Amino acid sequence: MIRKSVIIILIALLCLMAVRCRSSSLPEQEEETAEEREELIVVGFSQLGAESDWRSANTESMRSTFTAENGYQLIFEDGQQKQANQIMAIRTFIQQEVDYIVLAPVTETGWDTVLQEAKDAGIPVIIVDRMVNVSDDSLFTCWIGSDFELEGKKAAEWLNQYTLAKGLNPSDLHIVNIQGTIGASAQIGRTKGLADAARANGWDLLAEATGDFTQAKGKEVMESLLKKYSNINVVYCENDNEALGAIEAIEAAGKRAGSDIAGGEIMVISFDGVNKEALGYVLEDKITCIAECNPLHGPRVRTVIELLEEGKQPDKFSYVSEKIFSADETVMTLMVDGTECQVTILTGNPSY
Ligand code: AHR
Repeated sequence: MIRKSVIIILIALLCLMAVRCRSSSLPEQEEETAEEREELIVVGFSQLGAESDWRSANTESMRSTFTAENGYQLIFEDGQQKQANQIMAIRTFIQQEVDYIVLAPVTETGWDTVLQEAKDAGIPVIIVDRMVNVSDDSLFTCWIGSDFELEGKKAAEWLNQYTLAKGLNPSDLHIVNIQGTIGASAQIGRTKGLADAARANGWDLLAEATGDFTQAKGKEVMESLLKKYSNINVVYCENDNEALGAIEAIEAAGKRAGSDIAGGEIMVISFDGVNKEALGYVLEDKITCIAECNPLHGPRVRTVIELLEEGKQPDKFSYVSEKIFSADETVMTLMVDGTECQVTILTGNPSY
């Protein structure tokens, strides 16, 4: 019996020695990397999709910010425009016990349940870009993004100032709105900005139809609007990709995109200012005015996480300040909501 116990102890000792030899034979570099990995802050990012150049710039901003060199591990999930995919991604992040969840929501509503799950798991949620519309604001830590209604108001006021300066009668403006994804904050705010201005100024708002923020849908929608209405002279596109598609449709119909409404051109107004071709079109007067929407949220989200890591409380809502671009110098200043806003006159491409 004693002999048997001695043999067991000896075997155990040999196993222990073997394990120690294995770990000390790991190259030093590898051991350090493993240790470092332990300290990385893990961020799960649910991006809504890849519908536009703005979205690609936004994804790139997050990817280049949340790197291992900066102390982060980024888990990226593309929702492919489907809220169900984004909800699934958040549930996976919760199971993975990430340190922070960042959500760029496709639409505003329908987040209460899954955000409650994240809150119950004690994981802070940072909303970025579009808003969520939830019954209880404590379901998310904070939001960073654009004032989409202000963007819409600026674009509409630019149109108002411009057409007044050119002596056009407001009731002679026949406008179509190619909207973004219905239910997304960017669509809701920009659509409201135009609709309110149309009512206030007496413009003829002929139609609103969604182009889903894509070039292909923008083209398709503009083709059918041109067939339906022969008097369109302004197209308000809720992003640059839709504007590119609308211009393709205008030119295919044998018409011209440009600011000379009295001369029979169709004025194109747009949002973002990220796509290089769209910015080039501003210089060519094919797009007359772009209200900026800034996509570079990566560093902004990082600042929030750093504050939280220090135990501080970030602002609940942080609005990014944005410009309005044109190559035409007719309108240099706008008054929107009692605030003066300078028009940025493009002579070359601003680059993101
Ligand atoms: O939510 C921001 C909007 O989403 C951008 O204007 C658009 O291009 C994107 O797809």
